[in-house]
Amino acid sequence: MKISSHAVTRMLGPWQEGPGPAHQRLSDRLRLLILDGRVCLGAVLPSERDLATALGTSRTTVGAAFRTLVEHGYLATQARTRATVRLPGDTTPRNPPRTDAETIDLSFAAPAAPVEILHAAFAMALEQLPRHFERHGYDRYGTAELREAVARWYERRGLPTRPDHILITNGAQHALALLTRVLVSPRDTVLVDHPTYPHAITTFTEARARLLPVPVGSAVGSAGWDIEQLHAAGRAAHLAYLIPDFHNPTGMCMPAGVRRQLTLTCPTVVDETMTDLALDVPPPEPLAVHMPTAISIGSVSKSVWGGLRTGWIRALPSLLERVAQARPTTDLGTPVVEQLATAALLNGHQTRRSDSLRHLRAQRDALGRALTEYLPDVHTLQPVGGVTLWATFREPISSRLAAVAPDHGVTIAAGPRFGVGGAFERNIRLPYTLPPEQLIEGIRRLARAEQALRHGATGTHTPAPVA
Ligand SMILES: Cc1ncc(COP(=O)(O)O)c(C=O)c1O
Repeated sequence: MKISSHAVTRMLGPWQEGPGPAHQRLSDRLRLLILDGRVCLGAVLPSERDLATALGTSRTTVGAAFRTLVEHGYLATQARTRATVRLPGDTTPRNPPRTDAETIDLSFAAPAAPVEILHAAFAMALEQLPRHFERHGYDRYGTAELREAVARWYERRGLPTRPDHILITNGAQHALALLTRVLVSPRDTVLVDHPTYPHAITTFTEARARLLPVPVGSAVGSAGWDIEQLHAAGRAAHLAYLIPDFHNPTGMCMPAGVRRQLTLTCPTVVDETMTDLALDVPPPEPLAVHMPTAISIGSVSKSVWGGLRTGWIRALPSLLERVAQARPTTDLGTPVVEQLATAALLNGHQTRRSDSLRHLRAQRDALGRALTEYLPDVHTLQPVGGVTLWATFREPISSRLAAVAPDHGVTIAAGPRFGVGGAFERNIRLPYTLPPEQLIEGIRRLARAEQALRHGATGTHTPAPVA
């Protein structure tokens, strides 16, 4: 796969800033992009001349940076061919993320299935299934049962909704991909929270959109979102994508006051995947209560189980019709049994269960205590909901730590995966979806990996998958 000089320039961000010679800053930044998986293995880089022009720097600087990367094994070059991305000592990735049973996976933020509840939902689904046997089973909008159940879920949350406002998808990520296909054209500007959900970043960049990041987090103040910046960015954007309910990765919740004041003029996709996971605050009101034009997406992946692969879009029927028409190039509908099971879960109010919230709180607290004990220099902000905690190191070690951590039996998601232009090198996202003892052991291993890094260890593991 060739990557254009403009794509590399965009990913590099403000690489000129910082100490040291320009070629070193450039090679450091490129190396981090490779280690972080944002420039994939085997990708063919632009020529030195093209990249120098796009970056507004000299060909000598780019040539020196490429030579450093070749020397350290991050680029392969052959006569008359462009530089290809690799990892040191490898022709193919030597060390894919470890997936053995012993490795503790702190990169995936998703809970295990609630077994009995799922059994009951599927038993109900199988009883209802024969109703669908007379038809072909393909439905671009989803079954009437699930559209009705999702509409009622919104009604319970204070947002009047009809089933024809709902289109069923294969999860919230699929909902976002379908909406992107319909609403985003190349070179459009998309406002995103910063940090934000990594697969949203890739979805928009693959649609060749330009990202307009607006900061979210404790540094933005107690509210976590800056309404003035949002309004200003919204005026320049073709689309906004926000995660106001237990934001991934920070776990923050947009305060009611900000929700009431927010008026974005561009189409706005509100990702409510975490909304049922309020741990310390009352369940938030849907943003669409205050912003009727908002397009909401959601799923039961975090509140019940990701393996159901069912989600939805709530929007005006006219937009849903465009989505339904765009859909068949990638899929022809969502499996009926899973839809019926999801309807049973929603109708049985199983997406907000006090026992699972209690477990999440206990796991979050165990994770917090383990960080205090084993990584006392790491700063965290207690998430008020959702499944992830955003940790800040004193130094920009995140991508290197993610590459070393699997050697110590743990995988993590490095901060830059949640940002634009290489931001968040001091951050990692930690999920609290595992039992406390595994979380504690995972942090103990991470602390060992951090020590090893400080003593010069370099990792060669490719980034683990995230959700
Ligand atoms: C904010 C956010 N949106 C969407 C998704 C994808 O959800 P699904 O599994 O329903 O596709 C995730 C999963 O991690 C998420 O955190």
